[in-house]
Amino acid sequence: MRDALGEVQSVLVLGGGSDIGRSLVTRLARGRCRTVILAGRPEDEMDSVADAARSAGATTVETIHWESTDVASHEKVIGGVFDTYGDIDLVYAPAGILGSQEAFEDDPTFAARAFDINCTGLVSSCLVVAARMREQGHGAIVLMSSVAGVRARKDNYVYGATKAGLDAFGQGLGDALAEHGIRVMVVRPGFVHTKMTEGMDAAPFSTTPDKVAAAISEGLTKGSEVVWVPGILAYMFFVFRNLPRALWRKVADR
Ligand SMILES: NC(=O)c1ccc[n+]([C@@H]2O[C@H](COP(=O)([O-])OP(=O)(O)OC[C@H]3O[C@@H](n4cnc5c(N)ncnc54)[C@H](OP(=O)(O)O)[C@@H]3O)[C@@H](O)[C@H]2O)c1
Repeated sequence: MRDALGEVQSVLVLGGGSDIGRSLVTRLARGRCRTVILAGRPEDEMDSVADAARSAGATTVETIHWESTDVASHEKVIGGVFDTYGDIDLVYAPAGILGSQEAFEDDPTFAARAFDINCTGLVSSCLVVAARMREQGHGAIVLMSSVAGVRARKDNYVYGATKAGLDAFGQGLGDALAEHGIRVMVVRPGFVHTKMTEGMDAAPFSTTPDKVAAAISEGLTKGSEVVWVPGILAYMFFVFRNLPRALWRKVADR
């Protein structure tokens, strides 16, 4: 249960090795968050996030195996977290892959796998979370969408489509859970400097994991349902979303 000041005391991260997740978990643990459960594939990255969470003040820190594409396991794995650790205030879901449009076009099964990881697996997992949060009567779910899902571009429309699916799911889930006192936040960052974008040319208004974590944290305090990072992208994409297709093709080509 969030404390008297509304601060998160327990978090489950789906995609525990994420760079943005690392920043968020560290920030939460510097506050009042004492329980941090990192769910993902066993790897050094998750152990290093766990160490960062402990150094920042978390006292119960665990890593568990969770594979986004293994939807049959989600009930057991995620339900097990609620059974073992009790109430979870926040479920943060940064799992995802970027891939490349070229690789997706060369191998359509890879494109389908991107949907499985970025969208299908998170839909399955978050429905398990939603049922558990309804039982506990409180909680927040934060999903990582992207500006790429707001208006698809020809050079990353597969990734954009996975995010559009997740974004729509998050909005609908938020509406369905609102009356139960559970909030769902959809986060729409632009380009963030993380291992996912390493070696790529930064897009305009690029940002950092710490700034995304700060925006999420502020959004949780305010009860925001959609958060753009940086905020100016909300205005830019209001315009982009409404451009005629022929004009958008030219803008997206630049
Ligand atoms: N970086 C950006 O510019 C940007 C912009 C907009 C939105 N986003 C979104 O923000 C989220 C976090 O991104 P990030 O930059 O922090 O990326 P990141 O550091 O690469 O984190 C992504 C995480 O997803 C995990 N993952 C991938 N496939 C998985 C699977 N099948 N099952 C379980 N976990 C899996 C990865 O684990 P492994 O290491 O085991 O693969 C990794 O820990 C992503 O959803 C991303 O799409 C990022």
